[in-house]
Amino acid sequence: MIKDRIYDAFTAGLDRKGFGQRRDRQVAELRGDVLEVGAGTGLNLPRYRSADLLVALEPHRTYSRRLRARAGAAHVPVEVVAGTAEELPFADESFDVVSGFNSFQYAASPESALAEARRVLRPGGHLLAATWAPPEMCDLAGYLAALGANLPTPPAGAPGPFALSAEGALASLLASAGFEPQATRDVICRFDYRDGTETLRALLSAGPAVRAIRHAGNEAVERSVLESVDAFRQADGSYAMPNAFRFTLAIR
Ligand SMILES: C[S@@+](CC[C@H](N)C(=O)[O-])C[C@H]1O[C@@H](n2cnc3c(N)ncnc32)[C@H](O)[C@@H]1O
Repeated sequence: MIKDRIYDAFTAGLDRKGFGQRRDRQVAELRGDVLEVGAGTGLNLPRYRSADLLVALEPHRTYSRRLRARAGAAHVPVEVVAGTAEELPFADESFDVVSGFNSFQYAASPESALAEARRVLRPGGHLLAATWAPPEMCDLAGYLAALGANLPTPPAGAPGPFALSAEGALASLLASAGFEPQATRDVICRFDYRDGTETLRALLSAGPAVRAIRHAGNEAVERSVLESVDAFRQADGSYAMPNAFRFTLAIR
């Protein structure tokens, strides 16, 4: 089971940095009927201020439970719907905005996910996607590679954190899906942890880490994760890892 509460702590740490401020601003501005794809545990819900309706789509049952629990505290009406980005359970032209924060790259077929997003958007509607910037801009890349080394080899082209991160990859997929890509903006967010214990608690809470532990055992995964972040250990024993998220806006 994914440790959804710990995952929240991990993401909250991320959100304290630039990623959170950027999300605050962008999400607060989204208007009309909004669909958020892969809404996770609902950390974005309180950020919506101007939407008429927020439909939060999430395939994972454990996350959906947290999402539902959070819906009541949102400032806008929220509907939680089970489903995947590749097969949106909505009629054509149902939304003014489709958003996805750290989620589109996990779609088994990003092409289908973007085609579906376009189908359910009204003409002139906006797509807003936040994805990891290229791995060379993310110190977390070594940690993700360490997890990968403790998991069965994925098939070529499998979805993952950096699936849409190559320079121009998302913009070109958007254009192929019929969107007009607009601005992209990178936001640096530094992961700061007090010590090795806090680093492990945060980094071992994400879904791929939980799967790696199930596959290779706690001890092996802890060891390779600590090795992967060793270069970022500061003189006082804390860890600091700069990473970049890329926000992409496109119009239907
Ligand atoms: C890293 S989490 C991000 C969650 C949330 N958007 C946030 O920023 O806190 C990735 C999310 O994408 C969801 N996801 C994975 N595959 C998906 C798919 N095919 N369609 C829609 N969502 C998906 C996961 O269940 C998870 O909630």
